[in-house]
Amino acid sequence: MSFAKLGFVTVCAAALVLAGSVTMAQVKKGKSRLLETKQLMGGLIKVQCDAVKKSVDSPPGDEKGWAALATSAALLNEASYVLMEDGRCPDATWADAASKVLRDGSAAVVKAAEAKDSEAAKKAFGEMTKACGACHKAHKK
Ligand code: HEC
Repeated sequence: MSFAKLGFVTVCAAALVLAGSVTMAQVKKGKSRLLETKQLMGGLIKVQCDAVKKSVDSPPGDEKGWAALATSAALLNEASYVLMEDGRCPDATWADAASKVLRDGSAAVVKAAEAKDSEAAKKAFGEMTKACGACHKAHKK
């Protein structure tokens, strides 16, 4: 192999490695901020999703309970934006799960909590949690 050809192969190999690590970084972490996807999931999304589930399984009995449900769903709604920022989103599956299914579902939970409508909250929760499975199937290793 000529030196020039060898040089070209080396450059291509380096570019492939770089492209691979950039793709990984987009899923596991944003480009410039420090929050890891794993931390966002475990520290915010899972905690608030569990809180919504609890409230859907046994509907709030007072004003404070409905407000807490709205808070949890609103935080999940905000997380749907964070998932799309800082170059974290790698593809259309991710984008659909975060910016449509999770965002619209959590917004519907907020609306149901404001209306104190437990049936609507349950239905919206079912829609919202389709986002978890859809994204994990494609991107959670
Ligand atoms: C747009 C994509 C996406 C959506 C939507 C999503 N997740 Fe995740 N989730 C991930 C990825 C990617 C990982 C793996 C992160 C890693 O290990 O680096 C993950 C990991 C997790 C983990 C494991 C965290 C850990 O400590 O290892 C939990 C728990 C979790 N998600 C819960 C949820 C729940 C609950 C929902 C729905 C309300 C949800 N996720 C929605 C992408 C998503």
